[in-house]
Amino acid sequence: MIQDDYRAAIDVGTTKVCTILGKKRPDGSIEIAGVGVAPCSGLKRGLVADPEATTSAVMASVGAASKAAGMPIRQAYLGLTGSHVESRNVWSKVDGFSGVTVVTQEDVRRALAVASEDAAVEGRDLLHVIPRSYALDGIYGVRNPLGMHAAEMYVQAHAILGDRHPIESLQAAVRAAGIGISGLIVEPVAAAEAVLTDAEREEGVILADIGGGTTDVAVFYEGSIVHTTVLPIGGYQFTNDIAISFNATYEESERIKLRFASAVPDARTASEEFGIDSQGMDDPLIITRREIGQLMSERATELMRLMMKKLDEPHLNGLRISQMVLTGGGVKLDGFQAIARYIFQGHVRTASPRGAEGLPVERQDPQFSASVGLLLWGMRNLPRESHAGRKAITRTGGRSNGGGGLRASFRGLLPRSKATKAAKRESATPVGV
Ligand SMILES: Nc1ncnc2c1ncn2[C@@H]1O[C@H](COP(=O)(O)OP(=O)(O)OP(=O)(O)O)[C@@H](O)[C@H]1O
Ligand SMILES: [Mg+2]
Repeated sequence: MIQDDYRAAIDVGTTKVCTILGKKRPDGSIEIAGVGVAPCSGLKRGLVADPEATTSAVMASVGAASKAAGMPIRQAYLGLTGSHVESRNVWSKVDGFSGVTVVTQEDVRRALAVASEDAAVEGRDLLHVIPRSYALDGIYGVRNPLGMHAAEMYVQAHAILGDRHPIESLQAAVRAAGIGISGLIVEPVAAAEAVLTDAEREEGVILADIGGGTTDVAVFYEGSIVHTTVLPIGGYQFTNDIAISFNATYEESERIKLRFASAVPDARTASEEFGIDSQGMDDPLIITRREIGQLMSERATELMRLMMKKLDEPHLNGLRISQMVLTGGGVKLDGFQAIARYIFQGHVRTASPRGAEGLPVERQDPQFSASVGLLLWGMRNLPRESHAGRKAITRTGGRSNGGGGLRASFRGLLPRSKATKAAKRESATPVGV
Protein backbone atom coordinates (compact mmCIF):
# COMPACT_ATOMS: atom_id res chain seq x y z
CA MET A 1 0.00 0.00 0.00
CA ILE A 2 1.38 3.40 -0.93
CA GLN A 3 0.98 6.01 1.77
CA ASP A 4 2.10 9.04 -0.19
CA ASP A 5 -0.31 11.40 -1.87
CA TYR A 6 0.34 10.33 -5.45
CA ARG A 7 -2.13 11.55 -8.03
CA ALA A 8 -2.35 11.29 -11.78
CA ALA A 9 -3.78 13.51 -14.51
CA ILE A 10 -4.60 12.55 -18.08
CA ASP A 11 -4.79 15.22 -20.77
CA VAL A 12 -6.41 13.63 -23.81
CA GLY A 13 -5.50 16.10 -26.55
CA THR A 14 -6.25 16.14 -30.26
CA THR A 15 -2.63 15.32 -31.12
CA LYS A 16 -1.31 13.58 -28.00
CA VAL A 17 -2.28 12.07 -24.67
CA CYS A 18 -0.14 13.16 -21.74
CA THR A 19 -0.31 11.44 -18.36
CA ILE A 20 1.49 12.91 -15.37
CA LEU A 21 1.88 11.28 -11.98
CA GLY A 22 2.83 13.61 -9.17
CA LYS A 23 3.23 13.67 -5.44
CA LYS A 24 2.43 16.33 -2.90
CA ARG A 25 5.26 16.95 -0.49
CA PRO A 26 4.52 17.72 3.17
CA ASP A 27 5.34 21.40 2.52
CA GLY A 28 2.57 21.51 -0.14
CA SER A 29 4.89 21.63 -3.15
CA ILE A 30 4.18 19.24 -6.03
CA GLU A 31 6.82 16.94 -7.41
CA ILE A 32 6.44 15.07 -10.68
CA ALA A 33 7.20 11.36 -10.49
CA GLY A 34 6.56 10.33 -14.08
CA VAL A 35 5.33 11.66 -17.42
CA GLY A 36 4.09 9.60 -20.36
CA VAL A 37 3.20 11.00 -23.77
CA ALA A 38 1.67 9.11 -26.68
CA PRO A 39 0.44 10.38 -30.05
CA CYS A 40 -3.35 10.34 -30.36
CA SER A 41 -5.44 10.20 -33.51
CA GLY A 42 -8.76 9.47 -31.82
CA LEU A 43 -10.02 13.04 -31.33
CA LYS A 44 -11.38 15.70 -33.64
CA ARG A 45 -11.71 19.26 -32.33
CA GLY A 46 -11.31 17.99 -28.78
CA LEU A 47 -14.04 15.34 -29.11
CA VAL A 48 -13.71 11.56 -29.30
CA ALA A 49 -14.15 10.50 -32.92
CA ASP A 50 -12.42 7.11 -32.73
CA PRO A 51 -12.88 5.50 -29.29
CA GLU A 52 -10.46 2.63 -29.94
CA ALA A 53 -7.63 4.90 -31.07
CA THR A 54 -8.28 7.12 -28.05
CA THR A 55 -8.20 4.17 -25.64
CA SER A 56 -4.98 2.81 -27.06
CA ALA A 57 -3.30 6.25 -26.85
CA VAL A 58 -4.45 6.53 -23.21
CA MET A 59 -3.05 3.07 -22.49
CA ALA A 60 0.29 3.93 -24.09
CA SER A 61 0.54 7.25 -22.26
CA VAL A 62 -0.47 5.83 -18.86
CA GLY A 63 1.90 2.89 -19.38
CA ALA A 64 4.80 5.23 -20.11
CA ALA A 65 4.06 7.42 -17.08
CA SER A 66 3.74 4.34 -14.83
CA LYS A 67 7.04 3.03 -16.11
CA ALA A 68 8.80 6.36 -15.59
CA ALA A 69 7.46 6.58 -12.03
CA GLY A 70 7.97 2.91 -11.23
CA MET A 71 4.40 2.36 -10.02
CA PRO A 72 1.06 1.46 -11.61
CA ILE A 73 -1.59 4.13 -12.15
CA ARG A 74 -5.16 3.08 -11.43
CA GLN A 75 -7.02 6.37 -11.43
CA ALA A 76 -6.63 9.90 -12.68
CA TYR A 77 -8.12 13.33 -13.11
CA LEU A 78 -9.30 13.79 -16.65
CA GLY A 79 -9.13 16.96 -18.73
CA LEU A 80 -12.16 17.97 -20.74
CA THR A 81 -12.52 20.31 -23.69
CA GLY A 82 -14.68 20.82 -26.79
CA SER A 83 -16.85 23.66 -28.01
CA HIS A 84 -19.78 22.28 -25.98
CA VAL A 85 -18.01 23.65 -22.87
CA GLU A 86 -19.59 26.96 -21.87
CA SER A 87 -19.79 29.14 -18.82
CA ARG A 88 -22.30 31.34 -17.08
CA ASN A 89 -22.22 33.55 -14.03
CA VAL A 90 -24.99 33.58 -11.43
CA TRP A 91 -25.92 35.63 -8.39
CA SER A 92 -27.74 33.56 -5.78
CA LYS A 93 -29.31 34.37 -2.46
CA VAL A 94 -28.19 32.10 0.34
CA ASP A 95 -31.16 31.34 2.56
CA GLY A 96 -31.05 30.31 6.20
CA PHE A 97 -29.83 33.53 7.84
CA SER A 98 -31.99 34.62 10.77
CA GLY A 99 -30.68 37.84 12.24
CA VAL A 100 -27.01 38.76 12.24
CA THR A 101 -24.81 35.66 12.54
CA VAL A 102 -21.22 34.67 11.88
CA VAL A 103 -20.74 33.14 8.40
CA THR A 104 -19.63 29.53 8.79
CA GLN A 105 -18.22 26.87 6.52
CA GLU A 106 -21.72 25.41 6.37
CA ASP A 107 -23.06 28.73 4.98
CA VAL A 108 -20.34 28.69 2.31
CA ARG A 109 -21.28 25.11 1.46
CA ARG A 110 -24.94 26.09 1.15
CA ALA A 111 -23.92 29.05 -1.03
CA LEU A 112 -22.24 26.66 -3.41
CA ALA A 113 -25.26 24.36 -3.41
CA VAL A 114 -27.71 27.15 -4.22
CA ALA A 115 -25.40 28.60 -6.91
CA SER A 116 -25.21 25.12 -8.45
CA GLU A 117 -29.00 24.88 -8.51
CA ASP A 118 -29.28 28.30 -10.13
CA ALA A 119 -26.56 27.53 -12.70
CA ALA A 120 -27.97 24.15 -13.75
CA VAL A 121 -29.34 23.91 -17.28
CA GLU A 122 -31.67 21.10 -18.31
CA GLY A 123 -29.81 18.39 -20.23
CA ARG A 124 -26.32 19.79 -19.57
CA ASP A 125 -23.74 18.64 -17.04
CA LEU A 126 -22.46 21.08 -14.49
CA LEU A 127 -18.69 20.65 -14.36
CA HIS A 128 -17.47 23.36 -12.02
CA VAL A 129 -19.15 25.89 -9.79
CA ILE A 130 -16.60 28.42 -8.59
CA PRO A 131 -17.61 31.12 -6.10
CA ARG A 132 -16.24 34.47 -7.26
CA SER A 133 -17.35 36.79 -4.49
CA TYR A 134 -20.02 37.34 -1.88
CA ALA A 135 -22.26 40.23 -0.92
CA LEU A 136 -22.91 40.57 2.80
CA ASP A 137 -25.69 42.95 3.85
CA GLY A 138 -25.30 44.88 0.61
CA ILE A 139 -21.49 45.08 0.73
CA TYR A 140 -20.19 43.63 -2.53
CA GLY A 141 -16.82 42.13 -3.39
CA VAL A 142 -16.25 40.04 -0.27
CA ARG A 143 -13.86 37.26 -1.29
CA ASN A 144 -13.91 35.12 1.81
CA PRO A 145 -16.93 35.63 4.03
CA LEU A 146 -15.90 33.09 6.68
CA GLY A 147 -16.02 34.58 10.18
CA MET A 148 -17.74 37.80 9.04
CA HIS A 149 -21.10 38.91 10.44
CA ALA A 150 -24.15 39.16 8.18
CA ALA A 151 -27.93 38.97 8.16
CA GLU A 152 -28.13 38.44 4.41
CA MET A 153 -25.70 36.79 2.00
CA TYR A 154 -25.51 36.52 -1.79
CA VAL A 155 -22.92 34.57 -3.74
CA GLN A 156 -21.67 35.30 -7.24
CA ALA A 157 -20.44 32.12 -8.92
CA HIS A 158 -18.87 31.07 -12.21
CA ALA A 159 -20.34 27.83 -13.55
CA ILE A 160 -18.92 25.71 -16.35
CA LEU A 161 -21.23 23.33 -18.21
CA GLY A 162 -20.84 20.73 -20.91
CA ASP A 163 -22.90 18.32 -22.99
CA ARG A 164 -23.33 14.85 -21.56
CA HIS A 165 -22.71 12.81 -24.70
CA PRO A 166 -19.13 13.97 -25.50
CA ILE A 167 -18.23 13.81 -21.82
CA GLU A 168 -19.47 10.24 -21.57
CA SER A 169 -17.62 9.23 -24.74
CA LEU A 170 -14.34 10.53 -23.34
CA GLN A 171 -14.89 8.86 -19.99
CA ALA A 172 -15.75 5.57 -21.67
CA ALA A 173 -12.57 5.67 -23.77
CA VAL A 174 -10.46 6.26 -20.66
CA ARG A 175 -12.23 3.60 -18.59
CA ALA A 176 -11.72 1.13 -21.43
CA ALA A 177 -8.00 1.65 -20.85
CA GLY A 178 -8.52 0.34 -17.30
CA ILE A 179 -8.24 3.75 -15.64
CA GLY A 180 -10.80 5.06 -13.15
CA ILE A 181 -11.77 8.73 -13.32
CA SER A 182 -11.73 10.56 -10.04
CA GLY A 183 -12.53 14.01 -11.35
CA LEU A 184 -13.17 15.98 -14.50
CA ILE A 185 -11.39 19.30 -14.89
CA VAL A 186 -12.02 21.56 -17.85
CA GLU A 187 -8.85 22.25 -19.82
CA PRO A 188 -8.88 26.08 -19.82
CA VAL A 189 -9.08 26.04 -16.01
CA ALA A 190 -6.19 23.56 -15.93
CA ALA A 191 -4.00 25.51 -18.35
CA ALA A 192 -4.57 28.68 -16.35
CA GLU A 193 -3.44 26.90 -13.19
CA ALA A 194 -0.07 26.11 -14.76
CA VAL A 195 0.73 29.42 -16.41
CA LEU A 196 -0.94 32.45 -14.82
CA THR A 197 0.57 34.52 -12.04
CA ASP A 198 -1.52 35.80 -9.14
CA ALA A 199 -0.88 39.36 -10.36
CA GLU A 200 -2.27 38.55 -13.82
CA ARG A 201 -5.42 37.02 -12.35
CA GLU A 202 -5.84 40.05 -10.13
CA GLU A 203 -5.29 42.70 -12.83
CA GLY A 204 -7.29 40.82 -15.47
CA VAL A 205 -6.02 38.45 -18.13
CA ILE A 206 -7.19 36.35 -21.06
CA LEU A 207 -5.60 32.91 -21.18
CA ALA A 208 -5.69 31.04 -24.49
CA ASP A 209 -4.40 27.46 -24.88
CA ILE A 210 -4.11 26.95 -28.63
CA GLY A 211 -3.85 23.21 -29.12
CA GLY A 212 -4.14 20.93 -32.12
CA GLY A 213 -7.94 20.84 -32.28
CA THR A 214 -9.24 23.52 -29.94
CA THR A 215 -8.45 26.91 -28.48
CA ASP A 216 -9.36 26.86 -24.81
CA VAL A 217 -9.99 30.29 -23.31
CA ALA A 218 -10.37 31.44 -19.71
CA VAL A 219 -10.70 35.03 -18.52
CA PHE A 220 -9.72 36.11 -15.02
CA TYR A 221 -10.45 39.37 -13.24
CA GLU A 222 -9.98 40.51 -9.65
CA GLY A 223 -8.50 37.14 -8.74
CA SER A 224 -11.23 34.86 -10.03
CA ILE A 225 -12.39 33.25 -13.26
CA VAL A 226 -15.11 35.20 -15.03
CA HIS A 227 -15.47 33.48 -18.41
CA THR A 228 -14.63 30.13 -19.99
CA THR A 229 -15.08 29.14 -23.60
CA VAL A 230 -13.67 26.76 -26.21
CA LEU A 231 -13.25 27.41 -29.95
CA PRO A 232 -13.10 24.36 -32.23
CA ILE A 233 -9.99 25.71 -33.97
CA GLY A 234 -6.32 24.89 -33.42
CA GLY A 235 -3.09 23.93 -35.16
CA TYR A 236 -5.04 21.44 -37.29
CA GLN A 237 -6.56 24.24 -39.37
CA PHE A 238 -3.15 25.83 -39.97
CA THR A 239 -1.81 22.54 -41.31
CA ASN A 240 -4.98 21.89 -43.28
CA ASP A 241 -4.68 25.25 -45.04
CA ILE A 242 -1.28 24.15 -46.36
CA ALA A 243 -2.68 20.76 -47.37
CA ILE A 244 -5.54 22.31 -49.33
CA SER A 245 -3.50 25.08 -50.94
CA PHE A 246 -0.78 22.78 -52.25
CA ASN A 247 -2.71 19.51 -52.57
CA ALA A 248 -0.36 17.89 -50.06
CA THR A 249 -1.07 15.18 -47.50
CA TYR A 250 -1.74 16.29 -43.93
CA GLU A 251 1.54 14.71 -42.77
CA GLU A 252 3.59 16.50 -45.43
CA SER A 253 1.82 19.77 -44.62
CA GLU A 254 2.53 19.35 -40.89
CA ARG A 255 6.21 18.72 -41.69
CA ILE A 256 6.36 21.89 -43.80
CA LYS A 257 4.57 23.90 -41.11
CA LEU A 258 6.94 22.80 -38.35
CA ARG A 259 10.02 23.38 -40.48
CA PHE A 260 9.32 26.49 -42.57
CA ALA A 261 6.19 28.28 -41.37
CA SER A 262 6.07 31.73 -39.85
CA ALA A 263 3.06 33.98 -39.53
CA VAL A 264 5.35 36.98 -40.09
CA PRO A 265 8.17 35.78 -42.35
CA ASP A 266 10.98 38.29 -42.20
CA ALA A 267 12.03 40.13 -45.32
CA ARG A 268 15.42 38.39 -45.50
CA THR A 269 14.03 34.84 -45.66
CA ALA A 270 10.62 35.43 -47.28
CA SER A 271 11.84 34.51 -50.77
CA GLU A 272 13.61 31.34 -49.62
CA GLU A 273 12.34 28.40 -51.65
CA PHE A 274 11.71 24.81 -50.67
CA GLY A 275 9.90 21.78 -52.01
CA ILE A 276 6.54 20.35 -50.88
CA ASP A 277 5.30 16.96 -52.05
CA SER A 278 2.10 17.68 -53.92
CA GLN A 279 -0.21 14.76 -54.64
CA GLY A 280 -0.41 13.83 -58.31
CA MET A 281 2.90 15.51 -59.17
CA ASP A 282 6.11 13.67 -59.90
CA ASP A 283 8.39 16.37 -58.54
CA PRO A 284 8.00 18.45 -55.40
CA LEU A 285 6.28 21.79 -55.88
CA ILE A 286 8.66 24.68 -55.25
CA ILE A 287 7.16 27.34 -52.99
CA THR A 288 8.45 30.23 -50.88
CA ARG A 289 8.28 30.97 -47.18
CA ARG A 290 6.23 34.03 -48.12
CA GLU A 291 3.45 31.85 -49.58
CA ILE A 292 3.27 29.68 -46.46
CA GLY A 293 3.55 32.80 -44.31
CA GLN A 294 0.55 34.35 -46.04
CA LEU A 295 -1.59 31.32 -45.17
CA MET A 296 -0.35 31.22 -41.56
CA SER A 297 -0.84 34.93 -41.06
CA GLU A 298 -4.41 34.83 -42.38
CA ARG A 299 -5.30 31.83 -40.22
CA ALA A 300 -3.68 33.32 -37.09
CA THR A 301 -5.49 36.62 -37.69
CA GLU A 302 -8.80 34.84 -38.13
CA LEU A 303 -8.31 32.75 -35.00
CA MET A 304 -7.51 35.83 -32.94
CA ARG A 305 -10.46 37.76 -34.37
CA LEU A 306 -12.82 34.88 -33.65
CA MET A 307 -11.52 34.67 -30.10
CA MET A 308 -12.04 38.38 -29.54
CA LYS A 309 -15.54 38.09 -31.02
CA LYS A 310 -16.33 35.21 -28.70
CA LEU A 311 -15.20 37.38 -25.79
CA ASP A 312 -17.41 40.27 -26.85
CA GLU A 313 -19.78 39.60 -23.97
CA PRO A 314 -21.66 42.24 -21.98
CA HIS A 315 -20.19 41.05 -18.68
CA LEU A 316 -16.61 41.32 -20.00
CA ASN A 317 -16.87 44.57 -21.93
CA GLY A 318 -16.42 46.90 -18.99
CA LEU A 319 -13.44 45.08 -17.51
CA ARG A 320 -10.55 46.74 -19.42
CA ILE A 321 -8.39 43.64 -19.63
CA SER A 322 -5.06 44.49 -21.20
CA GLN A 323 -3.07 41.28 -20.80
CA MET A 324 -3.16 38.01 -22.70
CA VAL A 325 -1.21 34.82 -21.98
CA LEU A 326 -0.83 32.30 -24.80
CA THR A 327 0.05 28.66 -24.40
CA GLY A 328 -0.45 25.31 -26.21
CA GLY A 329 1.46 23.96 -29.22
CA GLY A 330 -0.26 26.34 -31.66
CA VAL A 331 1.52 29.38 -30.22
CA LYS A 332 4.87 27.84 -31.13
CA LEU A 333 4.19 29.01 -34.67
CA ASP A 334 6.77 31.71 -35.28
CA GLY A 335 5.11 35.12 -35.36
CA PHE A 336 1.85 34.04 -33.72
CA GLN A 337 2.48 36.22 -30.67
CA ALA A 338 3.08 39.27 -32.88
CA ILE A 339 -0.26 38.76 -34.62
CA ALA A 340 -2.01 38.21 -31.29
CA ARG A 341 -0.56 41.47 -29.99
CA TYR A 342 -1.69 43.34 -33.12
CA ILE A 343 -5.29 42.06 -32.90
CA PHE A 344 -5.59 42.26 -29.12
CA GLN A 345 -3.81 45.62 -28.82
CA GLY A 346 -2.45 44.77 -25.40
CA HIS A 347 0.37 42.98 -23.66
CA VAL A 348 0.83 39.36 -24.81
CA ARG A 349 3.23 36.73 -23.50
CA THR A 350 3.75 33.07 -24.34
CA ALA A 351 3.93 30.71 -21.38
CA SER A 352 5.18 27.25 -20.49
CA PRO A 353 3.96 25.32 -17.45
CA ARG A 354 5.31 26.16 -14.00
CA GLY A 355 4.50 25.21 -10.44
CA ALA A 356 5.58 21.56 -10.43
CA GLU A 357 9.08 20.39 -9.64
CA GLY A 358 10.86 17.70 -11.60
CA LEU A 359 9.11 18.30 -14.94
CA PRO A 360 11.48 16.86 -17.58
CA VAL A 361 13.12 19.61 -19.64
CA GLU A 362 11.52 18.41 -22.88
CA ARG A 363 8.06 18.85 -21.28
CA GLN A 364 8.73 22.42 -20.15
CA ASP A 365 6.92 23.52 -23.25
CA PRO A 366 3.59 25.29 -24.00
CA GLN A 367 2.17 21.97 -25.30
CA PHE A 368 2.16 20.58 -21.75
CA SER A 369 0.61 23.50 -19.84
CA ALA A 370 -2.86 21.96 -19.61
CA SER A 371 -1.42 18.54 -18.69
CA VAL A 372 0.61 19.98 -15.80
CA GLY A 373 -2.28 22.23 -14.84
CA LEU A 374 -4.67 19.28 -14.52
CA LEU A 375 -2.39 17.73 -11.92
CA LEU A 376 -1.84 21.04 -10.08
CA TRP A 377 -5.54 21.93 -10.04
CA GLY A 378 -6.57 18.48 -8.88
CA MET A 379 -3.89 18.39 -6.19
CA ARG A 380 -4.86 21.84 -4.92
CA ASN A 381 -8.64 21.59 -5.08
CA LEU A 382 -9.80 17.99 -4.92
CA PRO A 383 -9.69 15.69 -1.90
CA ARG A 384 -6.61 13.68 -1.14
CA GLU A 385 -6.62 10.16 -2.54
CA SER A 386 -4.02 7.88 -3.98
CA HIS A 387 -4.19 7.22 -7.72
CA ALA A 388 -1.15 4.95 -7.83
CA GLY A 389 -0.31 1.55 -6.42
CA ARG A 390 -2.66 -1.33 -5.84
CA LYS A 391 -5.14 0.02 -3.34
CA ALA A 392 -6.88 3.37 -2.99
CA ILE A 393 -6.45 5.47 0.12
CA THR A 394 -9.27 7.95 0.41
CA ARG A 395 -10.57 10.05 3.21
CA THR A 396 -13.90 10.57 1.50
CA GLY A 397 -15.12 7.03 0.99
CA GLY A 398 -16.74 6.22 -2.31
CA ARG A 399 -15.13 9.05 -4.24
CA SER A 400 -12.34 7.06 -5.80
CA ASN A 401 -14.19 4.29 -7.52
CA GLY A 402 -13.38 5.61 -10.91
CA GLY A 403 -17.03 5.50 -11.73
CA GLY A 404 -17.74 8.63 -9.77
CA GLY A 405 -17.87 10.49 -13.04
CA LEU A 406 -19.06 14.03 -12.98
CA ARG A 407 -20.17 14.29 -9.44
CA ALA A 408 -16.75 13.32 -8.20
CA SER A 409 -15.24 16.31 -9.94
CA PHE A 410 -17.68 18.74 -8.52
CA ARG A 411 -15.82 21.15 -6.35
CA GLY A 412 -16.45 24.75 -5.72
CA LEU A 413 -13.54 27.11 -5.30
CA LEU A 414 -12.93 30.11 -3.19
CA PRO A 415 -10.85 32.80 -4.85
CA ARG A 416 -7.35 31.50 -5.35
CA SER A 417 -5.58 32.56 -2.17
CA LYS A 418 -8.14 30.75 -0.03
CA ALA A 419 -8.52 27.73 -2.26
CA THR A 420 -6.01 25.38 -0.71
CA LYS A 421 -7.19 25.91 2.82
CA ALA A 422 -10.80 25.65 1.78
CA ALA A 423 -10.13 22.43 -0.11
CA LYS A 424 -8.62 20.92 3.02
CA ARG A 425 -11.63 21.95 5.06
CA GLU A 426 -14.03 20.76 2.41
CA SER A 427 -12.39 17.41 1.88
CA ALA A 428 -14.53 15.71 4.50
CA THR A 429 -17.74 17.28 3.25
CA PRO A 430 -18.18 16.70 -0.46
CA VAL A 431 -20.47 19.24 -2.05
CA GLY A 432 -23.77 17.48 -2.50
CA VAL A 433 -24.75 18.86 -5.85
N1 LIG B 1 6.80 24.90 -33.92
C1 LIG B 1 5.52 24.83 -34.21
N2 LIG B 1 4.98 25.67 -35.12
C2 LIG B 1 3.68 25.61 -35.43
N3 LIG B 1 2.79 24.79 -34.84
C3 LIG B 1 3.28 23.93 -33.93
C4 LIG B 1 4.65 23.91 -33.54
N4 LIG B 1 4.82 22.95 -32.60
C5 LIG B 1 3.60 22.40 -32.40
N5 LIG B 1 2.68 22.97 -33.19
C6 LIG B 1 1.26 22.63 -33.31
O1 LIG B 1 0.69 22.49 -32.02
C7 LIG B 1 -0.43 21.62 -32.11
C8 LIG B 1 -0.40 20.64 -30.95
O2 LIG B 1 -0.50 21.39 -29.76
P1 LIG B 1 -0.92 20.72 -28.39
O3 LIG B 1 0.01 19.61 -28.07
O4 LIG B 1 -1.03 21.83 -27.39
O5 LIG B 1 -2.35 20.14 -28.80
P2 LIG B 1 -3.24 19.03 -28.10
O6 LIG B 1 -3.19 19.23 -26.63
O7 LIG B 1 -2.87 17.68 -28.60
O8 LIG B 1 -4.67 19.37 -28.69
P3 LIG B 1 -6.00 20.02 -28.04
O9 LIG B 1 -5.59 20.67 -26.77
O10 LIG B 1 -6.44 21.03 -29.05
O11 LIG B 1 -6.96 18.92 -27.90
C9 LIG B 1 -0.33 20.88 -33.45
O12 LIG B 1 -1.32 21.39 -34.33
C10 LIG B 1 1.06 21.27 -33.95
O13 LIG B 1 1.11 21.38 -35.34
MG1 LIG C 1 -4.26 20.44 -25.30
